Amino acid sequence: MKAVLATSTFEQMKITSYEILNSAAKVVEDAEAQRFCEESMRDEEEMALWLEENIEPLTQIYLLREEADASASLARSPSIARRRAAWATNCD
Ligand SMILES: [Fe+2]
Repeated sequence: MKAVLATSTFEQMKITSYEILNSAAKVVEDAEAQRFCEESMRDEEEMALWLEENIEPLTQIYLLREEADASASLARSPSIARRRAAWATNCD
């Protein structure tokens, strides 16, 4: 999930960078640079949108894997499972 956060942040930074470069290209009337910046900005916006649309499924997959890892850890360590069961019984 840290990678999703970092990638999303980086995509936003790139979009803003291309906006600034595009503005500069307009000032100096460099049509080729403008086209490049606009095309690159669209690519970055597509990636940012894909990330935004996939945050929920990515989070669900992450949580399912975390849960599976936690269950596997408990299965490998019966003493932890016994202590957890005893604790749960005492809390009833
Ligand atoms: Fe990108």
